[in-house]
Amino acid sequence: MDVTDFESLVDGVPAEAEAVIDGIAESLILLRDGAQVRAWLNVCPHAGRRLDWAPGKFLLSKSGQLVCAAHGATFELQGGQCLAGPCRGEALRAIAVQVRDGVVALVN
Ligand code: FES
Repeated sequence: MDVTDFESLVDGVPAEAEAVIDGIAESLILLRDGAQVRAWLNVCPHAGRRLDWAPGKFLLSKSGQLVCAAHGATFELQGGQCLAGPCRGEALRAIAVQVRDGVVALVN
């Protein structure tokens, strides 16, 4: 299933897109890294809230880590691990995606 157009993503800037996973419409965090894209569910492991403060608007720390808008948990954007805050040691749920013909798609 296609998630979004690869060219719409800005390198290193988290973006949000919708995808149907296991029959459920989910919000995803997408991060372009060169020619690759990483994706996670937009669900914080602390209290299950979205991490963006408005759809697609994510907070980044000065060092480029993703900060949950709800209570400030801080995540690194390689593996999605929480480094600080109320869910330290937990991680975002990674979603497998691939770039194919200029489109970011779920890997089934
Ligand atoms: S829901 Fe993200 S830090 Fe609480």
